[in-house]
Amino acid sequence: MAANISIQPTSMKDVTKMERIGAHSHIHGLGLDANLEPRDSAQGMIGQGKARKAAGVILKMVQEGRIAGRAILIAGPPSTGKTAIAMGMAQTLGADVPFVNLTASEVFSLEMSKTEALTQAFRRAIGVRIKEETELIEGEVVEIQVDRSVTGATKTGRLTLKTTDMETVYDLGSKMIDQLQKEKVLAGDVISIDKASGRISKLGRSFGRAKDYDAMGADTKFVACPDGELQTRKEVVHTVSLHEIDVINSRTQGFLALFAGDTGEIKPELRDQINAKVGEWREEGKAEIVPGVLFIDEVHMLDIECFSFLNRALEGELAPLVVMASNRGITRIRGTKYKSPHGIPADLLDRTLIISTGKYAEGEIREIVKIRADEEDVRLSLDGLELLAKMGGDTSLRYALNLIAPSQLVAQRRKSAQVDVDDIRTAYRYFLDVDRSAAYARETNGMMFGEEEEDVDKKDVMSMDTSV
Ligand SMILES: Nc1ncnc2c1ncn2[C@@H]1O[C@H](COP(=O)(O)OP(=O)(O)OP(=O)(O)O)[C@@H](O)[C@H]1O
Ligand SMILES: [Mg+2]
Repeated sequence: MAANISIQPTSMKDVTKMERIGAHSHIHGLGLDANLEPRDSAQGMIGQGKARKAAGVILKMVQEGRIAGRAILIAGPPSTGKTAIAMGMAQTLGADVPFVNLTASEVFSLEMSKTEALTQAFRRAIGVRIKEETELIEGEVVEIQVDRSVTGATKTGRLTLKTTDMETVYDLGSKMIDQLQKEKVLAGDVISIDKASGRISKLGRSFGRAKDYDAMGADTKFVACPDGELQTRKEVVHTVSLHEIDVINSRTQGFLALFAGDTGEIKPELRDQINAKVGEWREEGKAEIVPGVLFIDEVHMLDIECFSFLNRALEGELAPLVVMASNRGITRIRGTKYKSPHGIPADLLDRTLIISTGKYAEGEIREIVKIRADEEDVRLSLDGLELLAKMGGDTSLRYALNLIAPSQLVAQRRKSAQVDVDDIRTAYRYFLDVDRSAAYARETNGMMFGEEEEDVDKKDVMSMDTSV
């Protein structure tokens, strides 16, 4: 079985994880210059220079393939840009370097064991860049002939292709005929047929036929009639993740499971076979490993079993860079009664590089609010911007950003295209920030259900001015 590990279908991407990350849609990178120095404001990123630079250095090593099997932790108080920095890293990686985004609690909600969920995430984050030779038939169409049966149910036909040196007639089945019709292939077109998949692509019209049609569209591309043999070989390079190879070769699942997102558990023996095969390809120079990034947000939600899995998995030969983020201070490690910084066991922390994020200055908050307002197509008056910036400093950056949209609705109700101080004040009255909500909870004590346990206290969350 190991002999015929398949990587088809090659053009497939793992579509189930695609999502629009609204809150971070203004982030287009880490905003660093060529020397990895953070610019004040670039690619949607403001401030937090030290953390951005550290992230940039790590990324550089990932891109050069020099770092894998390591763990990074971005630690800091809530809404200080930890997730934003990870998104910036994702945008900076090359197109074929995998970035996998996982929220720790997802591990518990999937219909599979925790370790299987983590294994799949690990393998999603490892790319295999494969060089393949494909056989193509490339030539100019001389003639397409289609014979229909009396009932019209079956179609057969012949396709005559030529190069400057030769001409051959191919028999066509109904699938190929349908494809030719779909691609609107006519005599005089230069086409390429992938022999393995039967896919037809139109390369352009032959120069030789340039004069035949005067009703050609302006965008018609003219190409030379190919020379030499009709059959040619071409090298193509594409990257698939180990997980994609797993799923495609898992007999019970089949590749359609990749689209459904319902991949179930994959047998360890299959993974061993695939690892062995990929190892062979590497030795033969047919494949390269591209270690990517696995981002685990809210990592304190993992439990002790997951952490011990991580410890072990990071040592594997095929491990990606693991980036974690947490806003917890000293807190209980899930599944134990022990406390530890960020809820992460000491042995894992020990092998982790820690990047910290800190509170923003008011000027930086103002800039971020401005960028977000632009992103959400909201026009803020100058005073409105000042007020939101101040609110961001007094409450939290996220609260200020969250007020932008409701304030706009308030402004629209009074038919104003611009959001002003009063609109923001109204929205501020409608929606509580954390402190006011806590005050409300205290006020209504006895009327709402509550838990008396000490651990659920707010003090486990990094307070706004504690730096790590
Ligand atoms: N340096 C920054 N530049 C631009 N936008 C930022 C920056 N930092 C944070 N933001 C934006 O502020 C909002 C809150 O930040 P983010 O979600 O990254 O915080 P966090 O540190 O992950 O918080 P939490 O601990 O609550 O998860 C997001 O919309 C984010 O895109
Ligand atoms: Mg976050």
